[in-house]
Amino acid sequence: MNETEKNRDSEKLKVIKEGLVEITIPEFEKISSEAPVFYNPQMEFNRDISILAIQECQEEIGKKVDICDVFGGSGIRAIRYKKEIENTGEITVNDISDDAIEFERINAKNNNTELNFHQMEANILLREFKGKFDIIDIDPFGSPSFFMDSVGYSVKKNAMVCVTATDTSALCGTYLEPCIRKYNATPYKSEYCHETGIRILIGFIALSFAKHKKYIETKLSHSSQHYLRLYLKVKKSSKSTDKSLKENIGYIKHCPKCLYRSSVKGLTTDINKTCPECNNDLAIAGPLWMGEIQNKEFISSMKSKIPNKNLKTSKKVLNLLNTCEEEANSIISFYDMHKICRILKISVPKLNSVLETLKKEGFLATNTHFNPVGIRTNCDISRLKKIVYDLSPDSKTEL
Ligand SMILES: C[S@@+](CC[C@H](N)C(=O)[O-])C[C@H]1O[C@@H](n2cnc3c(N)ncnc32)[C@H](O)[C@@H]1O
Repeated sequence: MNETEKNRDSEKLKVIKEGLVEITIPEFEKISSEAPVFYNPQMEFNRDISILAIQECQEEIGKKVDICDVFGGSGIRAIRYKKEIENTGEITVNDISDDAIEFERINAKNNNTELNFHQMEANILLREFKGKFDIIDIDPFGSPSFFMDSVGYSVKKNAMVCVTATDTSALCGTYLEPCIRKYNATPYKSEYCHETGIRILIGFIALSFAKHKKYIETKLSHSSQHYLRLYLKVKKSSKSTDKSLKENIGYIKHCPKCLYRSSVKGLTTDINKTCPECNNDLAIAGPLWMGEIQNKEFISSMKSKIPNKNLKTSKKVLNLLNTCEEEANSIISFYDMHKICRILKISVPKLNSVLETLKKEGFLATNTHFNPVGIRTNCDISRLKKIVYDLSPDSKTEL
């Protein structure tokens, strides 16, 4: 009988294997914040990527990193960080819930892992341990927005902040008001709304950290299943923070009729709201992050660290990182080829032939991890429609 069974023998327990660890949690009917201890098997992929990103960050920093898993749940994340990242420093796990903290302790013991435990409200923990952690992992229920000022206060320079948001309905524009309330930004539900969501989230974090004279570089960001996840390196300097906001915060303008889009820099800016292609009214999303959302070197180095064994999701991780690497140093937003074809009333041509034609004509053209039929290109919408039309197997409509 292990520690868990001794302590909780009246309760039904469940054993879960993930990565190199095995944890025990109380049985639950469905994955929800109502479960006594939260565990979501779908987040295994998120945790696998986090391990690679933290390993990479540790190499960049050049010393053992102290990590804080601020919303620990079952402890699976913190325990995996300790077991699967070589040579980490101290790992702290925190959770506000009695049950979570109890299972974090039990699971750490059963996996022979030494962790520091805290049972505090996240904002209080972050403020009390200002400047302590090299990695701060924020994986709450729903929105991380309530914690970003405390992270900005707490985080030290050159540290990395990892953030999950599961409130995609707000960030990606299904619900307008919650996005305005939580992220002080207007979302827009277009074919690239998950990218807009990621940019609103990064922009909100950049503005929150700016109060503390800190600015960010995005190392990796992805939209997977029901969540968005970011890896942000933090720097400190008031001048560079001002410069970063000037260069990286702005708005996207989008024409729902002809699919024209463009972006404007600045927080207070004059925005012409008429589409230059078709005179329709433009929709506006923002303020949001207009800077890089992927870092080529960081992602390339993460790829070299994917283990061949012990990782169920290796292939999926590699596919995601390949596409994220490809979309680094590219432009804002992408086109959905199916949407273009619906407007043109034509069958969909092969994605690769469209990408190749664009490149031959001298345009940037890449895939995007946000959408398997997405095209990230600096080609204007009229030319792109013509290329897609010409390559379609059964074009029926005159352009
Ligand atoms: C989504 S779960 C964490 C999952 C975990 N990181 C993982 O990878 O399995 C969120 C956890 O945050 C805890 N929590 C919720 N609000 C909190 C707060 N304000 N401060 C600290 N912990 C909180 C909950 O008890 C829950 O265990």
